[in-house]
Amino acid sequence: MADRALPRHLGIIMDGNGRWAKKRGLPRSAGHAAGAKVFKTIVRYCSRIGLEYLTVYAFSTENWKRPHDEVMALMGLFKTYLRDALDNFLSENVKVRFLGDTSAFDPQLKDLIDEITRVSENRTGMVLNIALNYGGRAEIVRAVQLLATDVQKGQLLPENITESMISSHLYTAGQPDPDLIIRPSGENRISNFMLWQSAYAEYVVMDILWPDLTTEDLEHAFDLYAARSRRFGGI
Ligand code: IPE
Ligand code: IPE
Ligand code: MG
Repeated sequence: MADRALPRHLGIIMDGNGRWAKKRGLPRSAGHAAGAKVFKTIVRYCSRIGLEYLTVYAFSTENWKRPHDEVMALMGLFKTYLRDALDNFLSENVKVRFLGDTSAFDPQLKDLIDEITRVSENRTGMVLNIALNYGGRAEIVRAVQLLATDVQKGQLLPENITESMISSHLYTAGQPDPDLIIRPSGENRISNFMLWQSAYAEYVVMDILWPDLTTEDLEHAFDLYAARSRRFGGI
């Protein structure tokens, strides 16, 4: 285990809360509450084992389609957990960043997002990216708009646009691409998560619902990752 290659950057699509609740005859919001507890456990674990970057997909640009009650329950949980994060993750030396259009949230949630970002800015431990109102396509559109503005101002020629310029206009600017993306819940799809950054990410789908995921399951994914041969198009 000591010399096993850990991913530098792990992405998690936290999926399966609704099914977890349904199996128990509980409302979907109970599944989200259970999922939020697991989020806390996994973040702490990743920080303690020395992972450098963790990105968790918490709410997609498409999740607004859900019934109003469910969206409201999720917003309430985000507030509770972000308040908790202010007290706890900071003692873990975790630097929290948000990926996505957070301007869409209510003022209370926006304030919390701003406060956590500010307070944790100079932390030197794991970077925790929380993808909230995040969509990979929307992120690329935003990067293109930013570059188009530079072109319009005459500061950039279209033929000089490079891949690294696009990368540096994404929410993850300056961070390495994810090496491993795990998706609990068994769904074999990417659901608009880190489309640009995941070009060469290893993917592990787990037949476990997110609220049931344990640190042992995560270790299993790390073992699968360590056994993969990454070639990046080479041989
Ligand atoms: C993931 O669990 C949480 C969010 C998308 C916010 P789901 O709510 O998608 O759970 P399932 O997929 O319906 O089981
Ligand atoms: C992806 O899960 C989004 C998050 C986990 C936040 P979804 O449950 O929204 O994805 P689909 O609808 O199954 O593709
Ligand atoms: Mg789902």
